[in-house]
Amino acid sequence: MVKQPAKILVTGGAGYIGSHAVLALQQAGYEVVVLDNLVYGHADLVKEVLQVELVVGDTNDRALLDQLFQTHDFAAVMHFAAYAYVGESVSHPDKYYRNNVLGTLTLLEAMVAANIKQFVFSSTCATYGVPAEVPIPENHPQSPINPYGATKLMVERILADFDRAYDLRSVAFRYFNAAGADPQGRLGEDHQPETHLIPLVLMTALGRQPSVSIFGTDYPTPDGTCIRDYIHVSDLADAHVLGLEYLLQGGASDRFNLGNGNGFSVREVIETARAVTGQPIPAEEHDRRPGDPPALVGSSDRARTLLGWQPKYADLKQILTHAWAWHQSRHGLASSVTP
Ligand SMILES: NC(=O)c1ccc[n+]([C@@H]2O[C@H](COP(=O)([O-])OP(=O)(O)OC[C@H]3O[C@@H](n4cnc5c(N)ncnc54)[C@H](O)[C@@H]3O)[C@@H](O)[C@H]2O)c1
Repeated sequence: MVKQPAKILVTGGAGYIGSHAVLALQQAGYEVVVLDNLVYGHADLVKEVLQVELVVGDTNDRALLDQLFQTHDFAAVMHFAAYAYVGESVSHPDKYYRNNVLGTLTLLEAMVAANIKQFVFSSTCATYGVPAEVPIPENHPQSPINPYGATKLMVERILADFDRAYDLRSVAFRYFNAAGADPQGRLGEDHQPETHLIPLVLMTALGRQPSVSIFGTDYPTPDGTCIRDYIHVSDLADAHVLGLEYLLQGGASDRFNLGNGNGFSVREVIETARAVTGQPIPAEEHDRRPGDPPALVGSSDRARTLLGWQPKYADLKQILTHAWAWHQSRHGLASSVTP
């Protein structure tokens, strides 16, 4: 029987998705401790907005993990901490294997030593590689085309082996494109550098960059631009709470896609952002980037059926409206701060 309120360690809880998960955990009555090395995270969001304990440290630091597990009685670990820049993973694969694979292995070893047996993991649709069918089901072959995706697939395999060997049960969520912000404006996306389309579009709307780039206009899609599946970050966070509860109730290890089920093209995103922001948002057309599949859309039926997950914000306009409110409050209109 799990003691209430259960205490959860959230690694990477100062980052974009992790911070929203902390909020969802708090709302569901859990006590949370965040572990983040702050390479990309934002301490102000953890301390001032979420107001939970922030341990500044690295998942590769075994001594720190052992001490953390001795001083807290964690029921489970939610693991968001990773590097997630696909291009950088190609140019610096060592950095990615060390952080994403070895960092996770160190964390899992410390968990086994401390007898913590439940783990929720941020995996990715990048483990599938170029899809042979769309929407992509969970049993689609996993064949990543970059080191970032490979690190996440390796961890999924480690998790299967740790379940067999040590009864460490896990849920791996394969996200499609996380987007949007807390509907009440408390949290949102603030990556430095930013590579995701929606924040780049909104930074252009704010006048913080001159234009947004469209890579490829000759794909076999209705308007020639790539189609992606955007999933609201608060819906992702809710799924994590459901995944955790599934494990706490004794559920077997499993993996679930988390996507919207609806794809939106790059042009649709830019057009909708123009409508939401009222700004012109100049766009520049470029050649295709190598390795970008025409369409990446996931089937999330499994999460809906087995976890009872119901995304609340599947509408692109709503996702952009929440993200826009956050971007304005966090970054402000360039015209209002530039003399
Ligand atoms: N953003 C997306 O669309 C998306 C899609 C699929 C999967 N994911 C995965 O979701 C997770 C969270 O993504 P995000 O967009 O919130 O990224 P993020 O960079 O905002 O958050 C990651 C956090 O982890 C921290 N961190 C990184 N390595 C660490 C380490 N070794 N020890 C301690 N802290 C560490 C960073 O400082 C950061 O705060 C990542 O694992 C990512 O691979 C994200």
